[in-house]
Order: sequence, then C-alpha cells, then structure tokens
Amino acid sequence: MMAFDNLQSLLNHLERQGWLARINESLSPHLEITEVTDRVVKKDGPALLFESPTGYRYPVLTNLYGSLDRVKAIFGIDSLDDLGRKFEEFLDLKPPRTFMDKVRLLPKLKDIASVFPKSGKDGPCHEVVQTEGFDLTELPVLTSWPDDGGPFITLPVVITRHPQTGRRNLGMYRLQVYDGQTTGMHWHIHKGGAEHFRHASERFPVAVCLGPDPITTYAATAPLPEDIDELILAGFLRKKPVELVPCVTCDLEVPAESQFVLEGYVVPGETRIEGPFGDHTGFYSPADQYPIFHLTAITRRKNPIYPATIVGRPPMEDAFLGKITERLFLPLIKKQLPEIVDMNLPIEGGFHNFCFVAIRKTYPGQAHKVMHALWGLGQMMFTKMIVVFDHYVDVQDMKQVLFFMGANLDPGRDLCLVKGPLDALDHASPLPHLGTKLGFDCTRKGPDEGHTRDWPALIAMDQTVKARVDQIWPRLKLEGS
Ligand SMILES: Cc1cc2nc3c(=O)[nH]c(=O)nc-3n(C[C@H](O)[C@H](O)[C@H](O)COP(=O)(O)O)c2cc1C
Repeated sequence: MMAFDNLQSLLNHLERQGWLARINESLSPHLEITEVTDRVVKKDGPALLFESPTGYRYPVLTNLYGSLDRVKAIFGIDSLDDLGRKFEEFLDLKPPRTFMDKVRLLPKLKDIASVFPKSGKDGPCHEVVQTEGFDLTELPVLTSWPDDGGPFITLPVVITRHPQTGRRNLGMYRLQVYDGQTTGMHWHIHKGGAEHFRHASERFPVAVCLGPDPITTYAATAPLPEDIDELILAGFLRKKPVELVPCVTCDLEVPAESQFVLEGYVVPGETRIEGPFGDHTGFYSPADQYPIFHLTAITRRKNPIYPATIVGRPPMEDAFLGKITERLFLPLIKKQLPEIVDMNLPIEGGFHNFCFVAIRKTYPGQAHKVMHALWGLGQMMFTKMIVVFDHYVDVQDMKQVLFFMGANLDPGRDLCLVKGPLDALDHASPLPHLGTKLGFDCTRKGPDEGHTRDWPALIAMDQTVKARVDQIWPRLKLEGS
C-alpha cells in the first residue's frame, strides 16, 4: 500500500474502514475534547474528528494513532515487527555479486531513491498565506487538563537547522500558546532543537508544521542520531519522498502537505514561564523557563484540520508511537549489541522508566555491559531501570518477566546503581535532568561470576509424555475445565 500524502486522504480511508468517528456535537477544546478522547483511547476506539469545536471554525482531529489497526494502515504494514525487518534489510544491504543479485536489488534501490526529500516551489500548505494580521488563538488549541498553564499545541513537527552545519532536525516539542503571535518552545535540553539553538547567536528560525503526512509526524518523535535528518526516515517508511516547500518568511523548508505551518523565530537568551502541563508521565510537569517562539506567518490549506493528541496517564495515543520506535530501532541496537534477542519498553513505564531486555549471554558480566551500552545509546540514556534476562525469557510477557526477575536475582550482587542524565519529565530525582539509574542482572550466574552453588534446572515436562498426552487429550474431554 502507498503512503498517505495528507490527513485528508488518510481520513477518507479510515472512514471507509469504520475507524473514524465524526462528532457534530459542539465540544470545547477546553477540557471537554480531552475527556471524550481519553475515554475513547482507553477503549481502543476510533480516530475522532470534532467537526464543531465550540468557538472555532477548524475541525479537531484526535486519537489518530490510538489503535494498532490504524497504525498498521498508516505505515502500510501487517505487524509492527515488519518495520524492524524492513529497516534491518536496509541496514544489511550488500554490493551485488551476480546478475540475479542485481535484479533482486532493484526494488530496494527504488526504496533508497525515495528516502531523500524533494524540494518544490508551492504546495497545499500555502493555499492561504498570512504574514500580517494572523492570530494563533483562532486555532482550536486544546487545554487538556484542569491545571494546565494554558492551551498547548500537542502534535507539532518543529523544524530547525543547525546554524553552522546546516543539518536539519525535526522534533516534536509542545508549544504553549501565550497569545496570537507567541508560544513557548518546550524542547528539553537533550533534544535536537535545543542543541541547534545553543549554537545560534542571533534570531534563530523555526518552522512548526501541524499535520503533515502521518508518517512525517511520527518521524519527528523518532530518536534518531543527531546528524540524521528525520525526513530521510520518513521517506524510507513512506517509500516516497516527502515533498517540501520553502517557508515564506524564513529560510527553512516544510512538508508541502501540512495543514498549518507556523513560521517564526526564537531569540537567544529570551525565556518565559512554560507550563505546568499534564504530561506523558501521568503527572503535571512543573512550570519552567523555556524559549519564546515568535510567529512571523501562519500558512495553511484552504480547509485545514487541526491535529492534536492528549497525553496523560498511560496508556494514551502516544503508546503506539513509542512502540513503533521500539520495534523500528531494535535492529539498529542489535547491530551494536548483537547479543540482544528482544526488548520491551512497557507502556506503563512511559518508555523511560523500564527496559526489559533478553540477551544471549556468552561471557561473565555481559548483562552489565548491555546495561551500560544501552545507557550510552541516544535517548536510551533516560532509562531509569534496565532489567536483563537470558535469551529464553519472553520479555513481552509480564508473567515471565516477574517470574524470572524474582527468582534469578540476588540484590546484593546483581544490582547496578549508576548516576547520569534523566528525562526532563522525571520528577523523582532530587535534581532535574540528573539522577540515579538501576540495572538488574536477572541472567543465570555461574562460577565464572562467583556463583559456585549449582544453578537449578527449570522444571519442564518430558517431551514424549507431552506428545502422548497431546494425542489422547481430545478423548479426555477436559477442554474448558
Ligand atoms: C506527543 C509527544 C509530545 C512530545 N513533547 C515533547 C516536548 O514537549 N519536549 C521534548 O523535548 N520532547 C517531546 N517529545 C519527545 C520528542 O519528540 C522525542 O524525544 C524526539 O525524539 C525528539 O527529537 P530530537 O531528538 O530530534 O530532538 C514528545 C513526544 C511525543 C510523542
């Protein structure tokens, strides 16, 4: 299946599948849309198009990524593991040796050609261009939770360029709307946008896209290494280049199919209180100083849809965005750490609190090596607790995780406490951004790790007995008892 070019074509598809609910009832972007969306997210319900948000003319779309079926349709895949496999094939590309190798390579070469974004002159996001007299408060921006500091744009794709290298970054950083022309710019200090901004000595151009094609929106959340353009990942996943148009008031390019584009700049040294905000963690993240985004233009489609997500106590819509990342990046992590068999960042841990990982252990201390390597790998540095198991443990199965964690751990020997950076949203550490992380080695230990007692065998039934009982099982008529 071909990637969806824009939200309009995706919504048509979702509607045909019965995966979109249109809501005509007038509901307020102030708390009411959240309450409805929250109930629907928790029931694995449809994407929601609020057609008459109280007091606003643009419809609001929520819960787009809130079910596995929709995510599979968006990415054109049968299972989330397909993403990892595709990525792995791409990483494993080898030069062809025979003629048949070359023929087999052709479709992959086509995929590779599609990764690079394509620059154009004009596109639907420029159907209406306002460089004066625009007013951000005309957008139906949600105030999600009662103690939020104001309305927040929650699904923005924030585009910047490194002032010296010119490298592009896409990141998803929420924006608190202060008034018709300014917002907060909530990029945490560890993130790509903040790093670019640290190198700016003057007005720093920023473009914010609301609702480009749905894969590009995902790509902004992906923890790619600093130097890799998220639009390349989007092109790879879409099997089609992302088409770009130049901004009207700044020197950046934006996806042509976006619903809205906010163009503007941030100024070094200028900050304002941002927050509080009911966050992914399920708690309010406290107000803090962040840069101010000044708008210089709003451009949009003629009939744009305002896309939003609500975050809060998991599970929420972003759970699927996180799971896409887990599956997509696993092959990349395995390239560095080939002993890793599988990994689970459970949704309830908000992706930063727990990582359960299974490894094929071949030497003493390997579980500790894996913990330290993961803590050194991009945004995995935020993982508060890493729990390492042997390869036969299914880390997707919480029953197995708790069973082996409880049974195989000697806390005096198998814990590893380290100090390091933590996610900006962590509220338990004494200092923001810095705290303690904990590793659990739940693998089997032998004499080479100082464990001289016998390690008992796991109980398992004899295979011939199992086969015989399988055979007579129907005659016993015990099904369901
Ligand atoms: C819905 C949603 C909202 C997010 N909001 C923020 C945010 O306000 N600030 C932030 O630093 N990261 C936020 N993130 C996480 C970043 O988008 C993510 O870490 C991404 O990898 C950042 O890209 P970068 O590494 O290019 O900066 C959010 C993620 C999602 C899914």
